[in-house]
Amino acid sequence: MSGKTFKLLGLSGSIRRVSHCKAILETIREKVSADTVVKNFDLTPIPNYNQDLDNEKDWPAPVRALREAVIEADALIAITPEYNHGMSGVLKNAIDWVSRPGYESILKGMPVLTISVSNRGGIRGQNQMHATFLSTVCRIAPGREIVVIEPGNKITNGRVTEENMLRVVMRGVDVLIDEVGLVQRLPQRVDAAAEERKKGGGKPKGD
Ligand SMILES: Cc1cc2nc3c(=O)[nH]c(=O)nc-3n(C[C@H](O)[C@H](O)[C@H](O)COP(=O)(O)O)c2cc1C
Repeated sequence: MSGKTFKLLGLSGSIRRVSHCKAILETIREKVSADTVVKNFDLTPIPNYNQDLDNEKDWPAPVRALREAVIEADALIAITPEYNHGMSGVLKNAIDWVSRPGYESILKGMPVLTISVSNRGGIRGQNQMHATFLSTVCRIAPGREIVVIEPGNKITNGRVTEENMLRVVMRGVDVLIDEVGLVQRLPQRVDAAAEERKKGGGKPKGD
């Protein structure tokens, strides 16, 4: 271990009460190793983006809270539902609020793990999310896209319960934390749970 506590900020593009996106974030929060803390930020009170208010003096209180949470975080986990072949407006709106000044915002250089959730698609929503995050010169965690298709079969009582999906999601988090190490030039992290997931534990890989 590097001795560092990794601070991850979870953003869900779905704000409905029994959201699968929120369930994935809560599962991550519970399952991360002892060196990691996950804070899941509720985007419900974030108002529609208004450039007139996008300045130090006029930011609405929920936007200030979001900005502070982003500044405090080492990395983001952004999960969007696919809505009409795209990303969620709620999440896009939140990203817009923290995206100025262009190319020099608080998202610059920030590692971001992106995940999408959908009934049967998902990749189109994720592609839109990638395009938006790339425009902020953040660092999208490398690897295959993580798409949670048919979430009702993988999530039970508000937690990811399907074993392979859980491993794929947590491996995504491992990659994200490795990115933090690279960006912050930390010594390579050694984590027993992450090493076990890399081996796959004899389970089908699928990721
Ligand atoms: C307005 C709306 C549009 C949707 N569009 C798509 C879609 O284009 N493709 C798809 O696979 N699922 C689509 N879905 C299904 C959602 O992606 C799915 O229900 C997802 O679980 C919602 O996220 P949540 O459970 O976190 O609220 C749509 C759902 C809604 C409500």
